[in-house]
Amino acid sequence: MINGERTISRPLRWAMVGGGRTGQVGYKHRTGALRDGTYQLLAGAFDLDAARGRDFGVRLGVAADRCYATYEELIKGEAGRADGVEVVSVATPNFTHYEITKACLKAGLHVICEKPLFFTTAECDEIAALAKEKNLVVGVTYGFTGHPLVHQMAAMVKKSLLGDIRIVDLAYTHGFNAGDDTGAGEAVRWRTNPKTAGPTFVLGDIGTHLYYLSELVLPHLKLEKLLCDRKAFIPTRAPLEDHATVLMHYDNGARARLWVSSVDAGNMGSQRYRFVGSKASVAWSDSHPDQLVYEVQGEPGRILHHGMPYLEPESLAIDRMGALHTEGLGDSWSNIYLWIAEAIDAARRGDAAFLKTHHYPGIHAGTEGVRWLEACVRSADAGAAWVDFH
Ligand SMILES: NC(=O)c1ccc[n+]([C@@H]2O[C@H](COP(=O)([O-])OP(=O)(O)OC[C@H]3O[C@@H](n4cnc5c(N)ncnc54)[C@H](O)[C@@H]3O)[C@@H](O)[C@H]2O)c1
Repeated sequence: MINGERTISRPLRWAMVGGGRTGQVGYKHRTGALRDGTYQLLAGAFDLDAARGRDFGVRLGVAADRCYATYEELIKGEAGRADGVEVVSVATPNFTHYEITKACLKAGLHVICEKPLFFTTAECDEIAALAKEKNLVVGVTYGFTGHPLVHQMAAMVKKSLLGDIRIVDLAYTHGFNAGDDTGAGEAVRWRTNPKTAGPTFVLGDIGTHLYYLSELVLPHLKLEKLLCDRKAFIPTRAPLEDHATVLMHYDNGARARLWVSSVDAGNMGSQRYRFVGSKASVAWSDSHPDQLVYEVQGEPGRILHHGMPYLEPESLAIDRMGALHTEGLGDSWSNIYLWIAEAIDAARRGDAAFLKTHHYPGIHAGTEGVRWLEACVRSADAGAAWVDFH
């Protein structure tokens, strides 16, 4: 169980780029990072509007002279200080991730970046090489993948409780963009423009969460090929999609279907996962994150509850609230931030053995998400043709 006891030698000096007052995801980063005392928020370039960003930062408790107008000023200003920050979170629109991450790494700073990581796998490979050369960590924030019941599913698959995996059923849908974009705010405008969102809208925005979580639960399966059909129900969003269906084949013969949509009017179900093996299945949704449905063929179905002693040790080890009390998104983000802090601490100590076995969503996880998006676009552009994943 995680209870806030320090697992790294000292708190990390931390800054944020983006995630300001109007940003949707910024508070999730702070919820994750500031929970266990592993990070201290000491600086930021929180907002494109410099004055609003400074006011916001000061209200978070950051010194006014360390609330910078731009990320370039942040890097320069912090480099000149003995107590300068050592890790930066990037919570800005997709098109800025690559340039900000690269600049931070070049300045010797670890990076925690939002998904989808970058636009291309070529950019990911370049950044991976730079991080390796500089002995720096790049973490990626796939929000719900720190949840104990996600890791329970992974442990059950590893222990063969489901048998051989046959069917994977993944969905992340909502209806927030069911109407047209007249009068839409900045967060919708940049998401629906290829220059700022990249080659996809919902596939990158929410589909990458599904794909990474499925990789986490099924690390032994390799994706061989996929077929993607994507559509903009609101035509002004084309060539990007507000709805997509993906079929996938794995190397063991398993089949997956995945759909993502932001025009699923009325649906607040969000993320749904079901993994079916030859003996049993597990299903989990973030609408009821405390519960895992475990169904063994020929037996009555069971609902497993987080934090209960009958769960696998991998799940219990990362539970925070204990059974009876709800465990949710904020707790999951805290685990992700903690794991990344432990990786940064190990990199600083030069502890290669720890890093070899330590789990955290890093550059590889980000890269595979981008590789999956590239394959989806390749398939959709060829008229929903089957394409090889690699
Ligand atoms: N991991 C998750 O669960 C999750 C959830 C939501 C969003 N995201 C990702 O987070 C990123 C941001 O999304 P959002 O919904 O918060 O966007 P948003 O439009 O709501 O907010 C973006 C924020 O970044 C600031 N900003 C933009 N450019 C900047 C720059 N160059 N320097 C400093 N600040 C800048 C804006 O002022 C704003 O505060 C995206 O990549 C998105 O895909 C991830």
